Amino acid sequence: MIDFALKEFQPLRGKNVILATTASVSIYRVPDLVRDLRREGAEVWVAMSHDSARLVSPEMMRWASGREVVTELSGEVEHIALLRDKNAILLIAPASYNTIGKIASGVADSVTTSLASNALGNGNPMVVVPAMHLSMYSNPVLQRNMKMLREFGVRILDPIVEEGKAKFNPSVPVIDEIIRTSSTVRGKRALVITGRGQGSIDPVRIIANRSSGETGYWLSRALYRIGFDVTVIGNSPRDLPQQIRFIHAEYVDEFVEKVSGVLKEEFDLVTVPAAIPDFVPAMSEEKLKSDGHVKLELTPAPKIVDLIRKMHSGILIPFRLTVTSEKNGLAHFEKSRPDGVVVNFYDQAGQPFGDSNGSFVFETKKRRKEISGINKEEACSRIAEEMAGMVQ
Ligand SMILES: Cc1cc2nc3c(=O)[nH]c(=O)nc-3n(C[C@H](O)[C@H](O)[C@H](O)COP(=O)(O)O)c2cc1C
Repeated sequence: MIDFALKEFQPLRGKNVILATTASVSIYRVPDLVRDLRREGAEVWVAMSHDSARLVSPEMMRWASGREVVTELSGEVEHIALLRDKNAILLIAPASYNTIGKIASGVADSVTTSLASNALGNGNPMVVVPAMHLSMYSNPVLQRNMKMLREFGVRILDPIVEEGKAKFNPSVPVIDEIIRTSSTVRGKRALVITGRGQGSIDPVRIIANRSSGETGYWLSRALYRIGFDVTVIGNSPRDLPQQIRFIHAEYVDEFVEKVSGVLKEEFDLVTVPAAIPDFVPAMSEEKLKSDGHVKLELTPAPKIVDLIRKMHSGILIPFRLTVTSEKNGLAHFEKSRPDGVVVNFYDQAGQPFGDSNGSFVFETKKRRKEISGINKEEACSRIAEEMAGMVQ
């Protein structure tokens, strides 16, 4: 029985996740993680190490997963049976220092380590989410063990370091890492320039635009999910998962500076779902007086897409917001000669800002494809597939 709302777009639909816990205090977050994985469409089974079942009751996990929880191995050979489907993903969250060490040494003396021993031999994708005190996380033995597991193809999610602890941060990073286990893109780098650009009128006032940054947020995650290593420059309505490198920029000159700096590195794909202003005001050094009229003079801002093209010879795909009647998005970018352009349209009702609208047109010299989704998450997953097809 599902007694909570499933998401409208469920990228984990059809995925079986075996979530094995260990005795790290972060286990208190796991019931939420289980529910979030199910909201995304996954089927979840929970297995618990003996010590972790002392920290959180298996009854809680039974409630969260809607299934019996494995706390002991029996004649049912649960560590084999749960992973019989080779596509089933073994997620160890949280992963203790102890369990990571045991897996790396080939020890299988708990439900969790036994599942790991079978997953590594059977070829199931495995995602490990370490969580412990920073001193334990910095221990060279743990670092060596994690390196060894990575060499065996295990994905280890870097923790968030806060308050002297290496914490795991459900659920967004875990969800994206699980989707990435079936990625098609390998070893490619994407740069996403996103968000709302602004200019200063005086030390306290800005001129901005209505862009929400939703498209860039979902496109960055979609590109990561599909297998790109992703760098983002700009601003985002919500925190991006820690696997995505994020460089903050808000003002037009900041965008120019950060983009020029980062493009000294090589990228296979640069895409620009950003609303960087076409005009910027001349900034007054003093706060403008609040009585009376003020005349603003706006001067053309540097064209970021042209700047990118001067430094980047790989695939370049800007976005273009336009009125419905304007048909050709590519023609707008004559100077920068992009490889494609993603067009979306605005109307009087305030579309396409925010997350509700997922209508785009993907345009290259050869073709024009309408892309739509229930929301921007779904539409961006399709746009990311188009982009992946162009870098392969
Ligand atoms: C209250 C409590 C909190 C603990 N928190 C952590 C932790 O955050 N990370 C960790 O690696 N070990 C932690 N430990 C130590 C592990 O529980 C211990 O190494 C245990 O043997 C792990 O067993 P398992 O890996 O089979 O679950 C904690 C222990 C207790 C009692």
